[in-house]
Amino acid sequence: MSKDKVQIFDTTLRDGEQVPGCKLDTKQKLVIAERLDSLGVDVIEAGFPISSPGDFKSVQEIAALVNNATVCGLTRSVKKDIEVAAEAIKGAKRPRIHTGIGTSESHIKHKFKSTQEDIIERAVAAVAYAKTFVEDVEFYAEDAGRTDNEYLARVCEAVIKAGATVLNIPDTTGYCLPEEYGTKIKYLKENVTGIDKAILSCHCHNDLGLATANSIAGVINGARQIECTINGIGERAGNTSLEEVVMILRQHPDLNLDTNINSKLLYDTSLMVSDKMGMVVQPNKAIVGSNAFAHSSGIHQDGVIKNRETYEIIDPKDVGVSESSIVLTARSGRAALAYRAKNVGYELTKLQLDAVYDNFLKFADRKKEIVDADIHEIIETSQIDMSNLA
Ligand code: KIV
Ligand code: ZN
Repeated sequence: MSKDKVQIFDTTLRDGEQVPGCKLDTKQKLVIAERLDSLGVDVIEAGFPISSPGDFKSVQEIAALVNNATVCGLTRSVKKDIEVAAEAIKGAKRPRIHTGIGTSESHIKHKFKSTQEDIIERAVAAVAYAKTFVEDVEFYAEDAGRTDNEYLARVCEAVIKAGATVLNIPDTTGYCLPEEYGTKIKYLKENVTGIDKAILSCHCHNDLGLATANSIAGVINGARQIECTINGIGERAGNTSLEEVVMILRQHPDLNLDTNINSKLLYDTSLMVSDKMGMVVQPNKAIVGSNAFAHSSGIHQDGVIKNRETYEIIDPKDVGVSESSIVLTARSGRAALAYRAKNVGYELTKLQLDAVYDNFLKFADRKKEIVDADIHEIIETSQIDMSNLA
């Protein structure tokens, strides 16, 4: 049975770039956009064109450059925003306008000092206006995570009637639990008239560390687009991480869902974005962190040396990492030491290994990590007959 496709909507260049200190110039954005297109993302959110002349120019140049992906520009439910976004994306092969408004009680009361009915009117007007420029219009219900489901369904129904092709259900504040977010998507699937005319999209923030789990709950319950960023960068604690959702769907064929992403480019793309934005990836970050395929405890190392699958669920090559690494620390065992010694040219006998291991532990207790140069020194200063090692 062929798998259902989940569209990957990358917002590294919009929500991701909102991170303080991560601002990119147009040239850097073009390089990243080109890479995202080769990676296989379905939609590139290139920016928020009304926000600055620089962002307008970047969106315009990305629209002209990108060959395969849809290029999208963000707007508020404001006429001028929509006109400027339409102008910026008009050179794209596949243009999309992403417009929307806050729908939670808190946004309606405090941000807009308005009413539920007025918000629906504004949402419908924005979608209808965007529709006069492009066929593909995505609507976001900002703070949908904290919006009452019944009201959210009414908003969705109204904007579908106005022509929205995609309905973005953002958990803007990263508040929802996975079950709650999944139930919200299911509720919309079951209660919005005309829902078959639109794709439901998950846009989850990571304030409670649940962005990835919530997005997966969303697609399990019927959403078919995930909005995410490389390395999970984004406002505050970040957005859903692209590499995580892609690999979750790939590692769980039972879900019967897949994406168009060429996973072998994930690691390299992560390095590129981290480098250009000057944003370090935490070493223990899933999929792309420097420790994601590194083994340092003796028990794990022994298992991985015997068979990689004992402690790894992903083949590192599948995400563009050449191989797993066996890191030598004071927690490592003989198997790891013998393996690393062999890699630098020493085939140790069992007796030699015992003696070298004692010496190794003394070194390892003094250093955080033993590197190849240390291995030579450890072996040379061990009390062993080295005639067979020359
Ligand atoms: O988090 C959010 O609600 C957003 C919208 C503007 C799509 O980024
Ligand atoms: Zn967001």
